[in-house]
Amino acid sequence: MDDFAILRTPAQVIFGTGMASATGSLAAEYGDRALVVTDPNIAGSPGFNSVRTSLHEAGVDVRVFSEAVVDVPESTITEAVGYAAEYRPDVVVAVGGGSTIDLAKVTALLARHPGPLSTYYPVGSVPGPVLPLIAVPTTAGTGSEVTPVSVITDATTRMKVGIASRHLIPRHALCDPLLTVGAPRTVTAHSGMDALAHAVESFMAIRRPAAPSSVLSRPQVGKNPLSDTLALAAAGGICANLARAVDDGDDLEARSAMLYGSLLAGIAFGNAGVTAGHALQFAVGAATHTSHGLGTGLLLPYVMEFNRPARLAEMAALAEAMACTDPVAAVHELGLRVGLPASLAEIGVEAGEVRGLAEASIGIRRLIDNNPVRLDVDALEQILTAAWHGEPDRISAARV
Ligand SMILES: NC(=O)c1ccc[n+]([C@@H]2O[C@H](COP(=O)([O-])OP(=O)(O)OC[C@H]3O[C@@H](n4cnc5c(N)ncnc54)[C@H](O)[C@@H]3O)[C@@H](O)[C@H]2O)c1
Ligand SMILES: [Fe+2]
Repeated sequence: MDDFAILRTPAQVIFGTGMASATGSLAAEYGDRALVVTDPNIAGSPGFNSVRTSLHEAGVDVRVFSEAVVDVPESTITEAVGYAAEYRPDVVVAVGGGSTIDLAKVTALLARHPGPLSTYYPVGSVPGPVLPLIAVPTTAGTGSEVTPVSVITDATTRMKVGIASRHLIPRHALCDPLLTVGAPRTVTAHSGMDALAHAVESFMAIRRPAAPSSVLSRPQVGKNPLSDTLALAAAGGICANLARAVDDGDDLEARSAMLYGSLLAGIAFGNAGVTAGHALQFAVGAATHTSHGLGTGLLLPYVMEFNRPARLAEMAALAEAMACTDPVAAVHELGLRVGLPASLAEIGVEAGEVRGLAEASIGIRRLIDNNPVRLDVDALEQILTAAWHGEPDRISAARV
């Protein structure tokens, strides 16, 4: 075993059906004013109501900001931060998918530290603790309830930017499968494939030499035995349950397994980091206005195939965990089975755009430098071209 491992997590991770009702007691530990961040779809749900009731029963005063928007545009951040400045909460509670939790993270950040938000784009530049955050996810999913990352849309470039700092890890993650039951079929499929991408990309990520300085300066340090254990368990659980959760959204057992898988994958990639697939999705998502999980799920088999020669042992371990002979084929088939588009061409990418997408992704060094095989624009173009055709085998064919 490598004798270097790291695990940064919330102070408390609580998982289980009905656990959303713990929110009130936890929030009351920080004071008597809670800003609850959510979106209009969730605000009227029974799960949201259970959170709100628990806050009320714990004697916590609540102000609800229910205008979270998918992909976290800057205008919404400005609005939420203004709301927080006026209310001066002791604690922030996020109830929603990754977009809502990420909005809550930057709201908690800007409530404690001066803007503009772009000050904190460089990795590890958040100067200290942010307002305490309790994250209650409603998708299975991004894992944002446990990660040091908030992904927002930059107003100038219109590209996604990940703000990464250990100070952005929520103080508590409250994972209640009941809250994911209402997630629509497409959201379930896309966010579930994203969770699988977190598990697999972090398991196949770069391995870095141990050094106290790099550990302290980076929230995500590359694969290590602790992240590997969680990533492998996550990949197995997600593969066994995603199609079930997509086919029957009321299947609480499958929902629970998915939320557990996305939680483990979130802790894994929150420490190890993700790789080329996520960097490429930032460009593909900006160009096609498709969801994060659609892009990361669609691109995953191509990135796996590209990285295969450097990660043969990991491929064998994934095959065992996922109960399949070839993990690349299994991930590709699972994506199609749950309704992902078959290719980048199918989501409107023109063949002539592929090179530009590769060029737009190469600058996302936090993710590009975390890939186990060195990447240049040609390599990214090769991955995207295979995905444009919908044929992972093109990458292996080019190797022989
Ligand atoms: N912070 C991180 O570590 C991290 C990791 C991966 C992705 N992300 C980001 O997270 C975002 C994607 O998050 P997501 O996939 O969770 O989706 P989302 O939060 O963008 O939500 C998608 C849609 O699903 C709806 N929804 C969510 N849960 C629901 C429920 N239980 N019932 C009914 N409707 C529900 C929402 O209202 C919204 O309309 C992207 O911006 C992505 O870049 C962040
Ligand atoms: Fe992701």
